[in-house]
Amino acid sequence: MPIDLTYRDDCAVILLNRPQALNALSGEVLRQIASSLDEVAQSKARALIVTGAGEKAFCAGADIKEFSGRTMAQDRHAIESGQALFARLDTFPIASVAVINGYAFGGGLELALACTFRLATANAKMALPEIKLGLIPGYGGTQRLPRLIGEARALDMVMTGRTVEAAEAERIGLVSRLVEGDPVEAGVAFARGFTQHSLPVLGFARAAVQRALSVPLHEGLKIEADLATLAFRTQDCAEGVAAFEQRRKANFRDV
Ligand code: CAA
Repeated sequence: MPIDLTYRDDCAVILLNRPQALNALSGEVLRQIASSLDEVAQSKARALIVTGAGEKAFCAGADIKEFSGRTMAQDRHAIESGQALFARLDTFPIASVAVINGYAFGGGLELALACTFRLATANAKMALPEIKLGLIPGYGGTQRLPRLIGEARALDMVMTGRTVEAAEAERIGLVSRLVEGDPVEAGVAFARGFTQHSLPVLGFARAAVQRALSVPLHEGLKIEADLATLAFRTQDCAEGVAAFEQRRKANFRDV
């Protein structure tokens, strides 16, 4: 199976498991990611970890061997399907953590960009090298990358296709942390930093922050006011405030 879905602690773990092709995203891999997301959405998991099997790669991008012989309509369908799949992560019920362990190139980096968080191991290498194939990124890279690292740095990566190593990726905010050891363990340990909080309130937090760069400030403030007001109405907020007053740990129930 090119995708392994397992559960560890509170987390679902999607392992891209096609190391002989550096975990490249074939049509079959994309279909299996889609069905894994369906399953995870129905599970009790409180975070989703995505990482790659093997020592070399998180994911080397779309499967280049599937490009030739396609019609223009098939190209468009492939691009829109990949975009739609990754866009599911934006509004997925739980936050996602990409642990980039080796190459995250092209569609592989675009998958990581669609995740809520990105961590990188010391050997991580990130690029949008599509320009070297006479292409541009098609799974959201031209849109998510500038939102994350700014227009100038995004243009630098997209137009040169150059590789960004782990330390630079952390410095420019492409990844939020560098991690050591087993990628799944590192992802699960990172997720423990938020999985004990209220799931609906975590969802409000993600939704508010994610809108920040796509709407004018006055609209963003309205979104924040709406979601913060909703958060006040949750039972978990009542529990969190009571726990503060009683000097104990809050016991959230996701309501
Ligand atoms: N698609 C299909 N197969 C791939 C692949 C890809 N994206 N990347 C690597 N592979 C395969 C190689 O063909 C090779 O298979 P064979 O042994 O059968 O020939 C195997 O994985 C190992 O790869 P390499 O021998 O090339 O490994 P390397 O260590 O020498 O180089 C690499 C690693 C620099 C990542 C190199 O493999 C590479 O440049 N890969 C292509 C990366 C790329 O261009 N990605 C963008 C794809 S386009 C895209 O993603 C469009 C989009 O926006 C959706």
